[in-house]
Amino acid sequence: MARVLFNNVVKRYNKSGQLSVDHFNLEIEDQEFMVLVGPSGCGKSTTLRMVAGLEQISSGDIYIGDQLVNDVPPKKRDIAMVFQNYALYPNMSIFENMAFGLRLRKTEKHVIESSVKSQSRTLEIEHLLERKPKQLSGGQRQRVALGRAILRTPQVFLMDEPLSNLDAKLRVQMREMIIELHRELATTMIYVTHDQTEAMTMGTRICVMKDGLIMQVDTPEVVYNRPVNRFVASFIGSPEMNFLQGTIMEKERSLYFSTKRFFMEIPYSMHEALRAGGNVDRSVTMGIRPENLQIVRELDEPPTDGTQITGIVTFSELMGADRYIHLDLGHEQKLVIRAPAFTKYADGTRLEVTMKSEFINFFHRETGNAIR
Ligand SMILES: Nc1ncnc2c1ncn2[C@@H]1O[C@H](COP(=O)(O)OP(=O)(O)O)[C@@H](O)[C@H]1O
Ligand SMILES: [Mg+2]
Repeated sequence: MARVLFNNVVKRYNKSGQLSVDHFNLEIEDQEFMVLVGPSGCGKSTTLRMVAGLEQISSGDIYIGDQLVNDVPPKKRDIAMVFQNYALYPNMSIFENMAFGLRLRKTEKHVIESSVKSQSRTLEIEHLLERKPKQLSGGQRQRVALGRAILRTPQVFLMDEPLSNLDAKLRVQMREMIIELHRELATTMIYVTHDQTEAMTMGTRICVMKDGLIMQVDTPEVVYNRPVNRFVASFIGSPEMNFLQGTIMEKERSLYFSTKRFFMEIPYSMHEALRAGGNVDRSVTMGIRPENLQIVRELDEPPTDGTQITGIVTFSELMGADRYIHLDLGHEQKLVIRAPAFTKYADGTRLEVTMKSEFINFFHRETGNAIR
């Protein structure tokens, strides 16, 4: 059982180069499932490898439990790591691969035997113990790698994109398995992925990274509904959050979001933040997720005043249960609506839509930071 604490951790691979991890501050609580998520190259693996002791820290401190581990060799850190490419020993049987860590620790033979058996039963690989890794499918190999890590009973599990080599269906199964394992083992987990769906579904908290920096750390719900900036807003969620440009206007003590085509009243709960930041009469970016838009009706004619939000269907994508309907609002503004699959409109149809206004987010036009 252990928390993991990052204190101003910096990683610079080359003296002249950019920081791969830039003053990283994060406390991962004991038994937490923390997901590090972000685009390729943002420093996720580097961060994880510093916890594992596979990369030197340039400056700052990392603690596992109460121990400062900066100079502790990997073997002594009481962690287990699962990699994307499984990293099994090709010449050893599956049994030997799983038993390896226990043998190193001079565990008694019958204990090794029963532990490997019982763990392989849980992971449904019991029938594969005599085989060599190359005789297994990707999903089976990944389960062996997981089993090997679990048998080490580490204080902290580190996983670096462990599912990204698997096909979509298997990935979903393994995702569930890892969530269940975490529940059973109650061990701290740090899980790295570039896949926002994995992050959303697996993490008790998620840490969104960009260019070596932490953008936001919070529960999936908060990150999804209240992203701190436009980067997080677009990275998390699919299809992406819609962004519209407009101006905050005040009229008879009410605030409105106004574009060239329409204006809408802003919920009272957002007024204070908008006023405090001096955003009245300023141009801002508004964000609304595709599922928070609703189609009201089809229109034959363009509206004559600005009280309706309308647009022309440019194309639709059927996604099974959902249909993504793309609308052109004019003036280079676009919206994607997530509607049930049976909602069907021909391209060129003019639609009126409404927004669930409690779900809108405002961002500063220049910085992209959320207005709170
Ligand atoms: N061994 C290395 N030597 C030099 N630069 C590296 C090395 N490993 C990673 N980097 C650089 O550090 C940055 C972060 O990489 P990485 O941690 O692998 O990102 P991620 O896992 O998020 O894709 C990237 O710019 C990458 O090119
Ligand atoms: Mg990586």
